[in-house]
Amino acid sequence: MKEEKSDVRPESLSGEESPGDRFEISRRGFLKGLGGTAVAAAVFPKAAVSQEGTLRGVSVGSVTLRVNGQTHVIPRVEARTTLLDVLRNRLDLTGAKPICERASCGGCTVLLDGKAVYSCSILAMDAEGREITTVEGLASNGRLHPVQEAFVEHDALQCGFCTPGFVVAAVAFLQENPNPTLEEVKQGVSGNLCRCGTYTRIFEAVLAAAEKMRKGA
Ligand code: FES
Ligand code: FES
Repeated sequence: MKEEKSDVRPESLSGEESPGDRFEISRRGFLKGLGGTAVAAAVFPKAAVSQEGTLRGVSVGSVTLRVNGQTHVIPRVEARTTLLDVLRNRLDLTGAKPICERASCGGCTVLLDGKAVYSCSILAMDAEGREITTVEGLASNGRLHPVQEAFVEHDALQCGFCTPGFVVAAVAFLQENPNPTLEEVKQGVSGNLCRCGTYTRIFEAVLAAAEKMRKGA
């Protein structure tokens, strides 16, 4: 029996042919074939945000976030927007840092209902109704948080880029474990990386902060 050959050619989807592989469908071609709007609808379900319309085929809506004790209504946020993006680019809270932006370094750490989370990996709309605390919200009545004080006193930084994330992670850790050992501190902030390698001083600072907090200093 004669084998039938498919007449489906990659040009029909992409308009361009990959040299040496006529049957490889390029990513661009796949998206073109489906159409941008269809892709957006599949990836960002419209029910997920309060609708204001679409922007370049992507759902946009307002998001209400409670950050550092204040309520913010942020209009025209794309459904795919991360919490980190909104904090930095819409609310001008630039303490949380976009370093890896893939849940690996901890530079973007904030508190969500008191728990340390990577804000680069949480959608802004998923943070609605939650209490968000950034490093900017840790000081109170003009006084730094004991963890911040301890980082200053122990010179626990070099470039400082990782510092806000470490401070927030340490605050969350000490709320769970107010009297940690050195090994527990190492484990407790192990979700954060310091490319300058100031770990020894960071660990010292967290231990010192724990003592300050226990003494109510
Ligand atoms: S920027 Fe979020 S974990 Fe690295
Ligand atoms: S102080 Fe530079 S990355 Fe940590």
